[in-house]
Amino acid sequence: MCGIFGVTGDKDTTELLIHGLKRMEYRGYDSSGICLNNEELIRKRAVGPLSNLEPLVVDLPDSKCGIAHTRWATHGAPTVENAHPHVSSELDVAVVHNGIIENEVELRNFLKSDDKELEFESETDSELVAHLLSKELKKINSKIKNITEDQILSSWKNVIDKLEGSYALAAVISGREDSILFARKFAPLILSHDGKRGLLASDVSCVVGLSESVFYLEEGDWGIIKDLGVKIFNIDGDTVELKPKKLEWELGDAELGGYPTFMLKEIYEQPRVVRDCLRGRLSRDKIKGVKIPYHPRLLRIVGCGTAYNAGLLARYYIEQLSKIPVILDHAHEFRYGAPSGPKSLVVGISQSGETADTLAAIDAAQERGYPTLGIVNVESSTIARNVDHIIGIRAGPEIGVASTKAFTGQVLGGLLIAMKLGQDSKNFHREDLSYFDRHARMLPTSMERMLNDQNIKTKLWEAQQYFSGKNHAFFLGRNTSYPIALEGALKLKEISYIHAEGYAGGELKHGPLALVEEGTPIVVIASEGSSHKKLLGNAREVSSRGAKVIFITHQEDELADSHADLVIKVPRTHDLLQPLMYNIICQLLSLNIAEERGCNVDRPRNLAKSVTVE
Ligand code: AGP
Repeated sequence: MCGIFGVTGDKDTTELLIHGLKRMEYRGYDSSGICLNNEELIRKRAVGPLSNLEPLVVDLPDSKCGIAHTRWATHGAPTVENAHPHVSSELDVAVVHNGIIENEVELRNFLKSDDKELEFESETDSELVAHLLSKELKKINSKIKNITEDQILSSWKNVIDKLEGSYALAAVISGREDSILFARKFAPLILSHDGKRGLLASDVSCVVGLSESVFYLEEGDWGIIKDLGVKIFNIDGDTVELKPKKLEWELGDAELGGYPTFMLKEIYEQPRVVRDCLRGRLSRDKIKGVKIPYHPRLLRIVGCGTAYNAGLLARYYIEQLSKIPVILDHAHEFRYGAPSGPKSLVVGISQSGETADTLAAIDAAQERGYPTLGIVNVESSTIARNVDHIIGIRAGPEIGVASTKAFTGQVLGGLLIAMKLGQDSKNFHREDLSYFDRHARMLPTSMERMLNDQNIKTKLWEAQQYFSGKNHAFFLGRNTSYPIALEGALKLKEISYIHAEGYAGGELKHGPLALVEEGTPIVVIASEGSSHKKLLGNAREVSSRGAKVIFITHQEDELADSHADLVIKVPRTHDLLQPLMYNIICQLLSLNIAEERGCNVDRPRNLAKSVTVE
């Protein structure tokens, strides 16, 4: 997704703008640019990595105010002309934008009807905002310097009232060297101000290390931030009091910390995530801190990508431990279904808490009168602020685009709900919880042991060879390992670009088996009880058709060896926690394969960390 960043009141504006852009690289982008708000607006833009922009800004004059942008193309190809900031024809306004302006055609026609000579520099919807603001200002006075701040604010409000769709916006006006206008609707925007310097950003990773506190703008908020202060208004034009919140993350969290990639760092952080996520919530006799509005007769779970896969595992847990039925939907499909009657609880799962599809599903659920619960990582996010209750997974910032530690936290969040509902419905008893508690406390150490096991690293290297030169792969699971098969396939495809699909083992003979040929790498992920024996049968099915079978199972499994070309055995833990151990092996396997193929595992092509457009 696009990222916007703005600074006012700092003498090293150019350096800070580049710093902010670097902090947003993990969001995914294909071009970038900055604009300094001096007497004249000074704009520099480049396609490709930031290293293409940096040489263009080294000799810029000092400035104390500016805006910057990383673009993830939605309207128009990644070209310099389409890169932000976008400017008005007279170069008196510059704008950066994250989101989609849905009435761009009408606005383009409106502008052209007023000025037939008007030329659009780009194919983007965002450029229209610069022209609209310039037009509003000139209606007041052709000399923008003579326009009062109140007149600027009312012009800005007139512009944003014309916009339909989603936007996080920052705009600068030539001659107002200390001011940045801003507005947010269905796209996140935060600001921070220490009395001398103001910062504006799409997410907290830009301000970590630069500020101690942040203010999260609400839907519809808009205003002006200057070196000496900030004015915020709500959608009705009423003044909003600035109530900053302490930044939830430290500088180190958003840094590599000696790891070669954020993805590897975040894979190795999972033992800490288990400790933090369960801390204060799990004891031998009860689940604490999990607020469920009432005892639902039906649960709905919505999420996308990894969050959806975590939701599928949560569904198995909730149905098996509480006997309460669960309907799982991809968030973007939820709204097309029929309402599910009274007493449904809707659980939205989202690492970023800003995924537009999941936010829209939660909005639809609330319109239908359902109570909502969020399993989120960013507890200040829009989803976290919109739902009735949240379970924060406490995973810390997840910078790698491919979600790893967040999946572990999301699954644990689902497990806490399952055990809470299981206790309430008298299906999950105190001795069950006590037994689980004992294993959960040992899980971080088991994970650490597995992550540092040389034998497993060797097995992973051997498994990696099966994928060399291959462009298709399958992951198979059953019951609670089926979600791991889906997640393992997602991880492999999104960072190595190998076409990988996850299937429930029983589905193979209904079609996918036709795709199996000599040497096809197939990862089979062990399950529990009777479903495990069926998976062994699936392994035989594909082996007999020439597949190379990699079986991921636990140390006590004595059957897998005769059903696979390679078996990776991990420490045994509680049945409910075992899938998390298998998932870490899938994460490491995908990471190794992707790196061998020369892929950028932290910023895979075409993908963004948080998809804030539908
Ligand atoms: C998973 O590795 C991807 N990054 C993607 O599928 C992600 O899980 C999905 O976009 C949902 O993001 P969220 O958890 O921030 O809502």
